[in-house]
Amino acid sequence: MQMNGNCIHVSGLRMQYGNVYAVDDVSFDVQYGRVFGFLGPNGAGKTTTIKVLTTLVHPSAGSVQIFGKDVVKQAKEIKKRTGVVLQEPSFEANLTVEKALDLYGLLWGISAERRRDRTRELIDAFDMNDFKSKKNDELSIGQRRRVQVAREFMHDMDLLFLDEPTVGLDPAARRQLLDYVKKQVRGGLTVFFTTHIMEEVEYLCDEIAILNKGRLIAIDTPAGLKQKYGAIKAVEITTKDTPVRSIMHLIRPIAADALIETPADDTIRISSKEAQSMLVEIIELFSRNSIQIESIAANPPTLEEVFLTVVGKA
Ligand SMILES: Nc1ncnc2c1ncn2[C@@H]1O[C@H](COP(=O)(O)OP(=O)(O)OP(=O)(O)O)[C@@H](O)[C@H]1O
Ligand SMILES: [Mg+2]
Repeated sequence: MQMNGNCIHVSGLRMQYGNVYAVDDVSFDVQYGRVFGFLGPNGAGKTTTIKVLTTLVHPSAGSVQIFGKDVVKQAKEIKKRTGVVLQEPSFEANLTVEKALDLYGLLWGISAERRRDRTRELIDAFDMNDFKSKKNDELSIGQRRRVQVAREFMHDMDLLFLDEPTVGLDPAARRQLLDYVKKQVRGGLTVFFTTHIMEEVEYLCDEIAILNKGRLIAIDTPAGLKQKYGAIKAVEITTKDTPVRSIMHLIRPIAADALIETPADDTIRISSKEAQSMLVEIIELFSRNSIQIESIAANPPTLEEVFLTVVGKA
């Protein structure tokens, strides 16, 4: 596998449907061995981008290189080393889970012995033993999705696109999938990952791009995004024996621009961009006035906050 340069290089990508740009002048790079989270509201252009990057449709403008190869001119070479789980369901209705996995491996030219091993491994990894002998038609929606995701791992690849792979999966199945992906990433796989669930992004992604109305509006590490956009933070202080009403006049001057709430008689919640530094001042204030603190809880910025801030602004 080529380790120099970027796994994905996108420059000025546009995708036009009629007179609308579903993807509009998008540029980014994805390094080898990373999990790249591609986020954005419904209709932002995520799936459209994935279709271009997986050589399923030709871009209207711009250039895309995968493994240093051009998506239009060298599609075949890219496809050989790439896996994709599309957003739309896709399955063989009349095949059992085991047979469906085996057939998928066969289509990829995997030897019979390997297919047998892989099928067994994936049925275990995705906890599908209970329904491995059922036909796809007889499966629940979430079970079908698990088969669709699992079968992609029948073949070896250097890059995997997952377009909302966990939709419909129960919490255990979701975690199994994310952990399986993580394991593959440790083995060198690069992953392009789309989801609407921020916990998954937090758990899996090294870098995040946020797309809105076809345009890339933010790109950074999860920590970097939180630092930039996760502005509003809250701290909650619970006092011991002191009703917060009685000390409000001391707190107000410190937290002048903050939103101050009292969810309980002994609890004060301060929401502000400056919550962190206010907390330090309040602790000093309490100590000067011999006010005892029962507990302190700080709410760090979440990716959900980041997402809502970034998309709301755009
Ligand atoms: N085949 C098509 N013909 C015309 N317009 C399309 C086509 N496919 C997608 N679009 C439009 O392109 C835009 C982007 O769609 P896309 O499916 O890429 O969004 P998405 O970010 O994947 O959304 P979701 O989160 O709902 O999956 C939408 O406005 C959609 O209506
Ligand atoms: Mg989509």
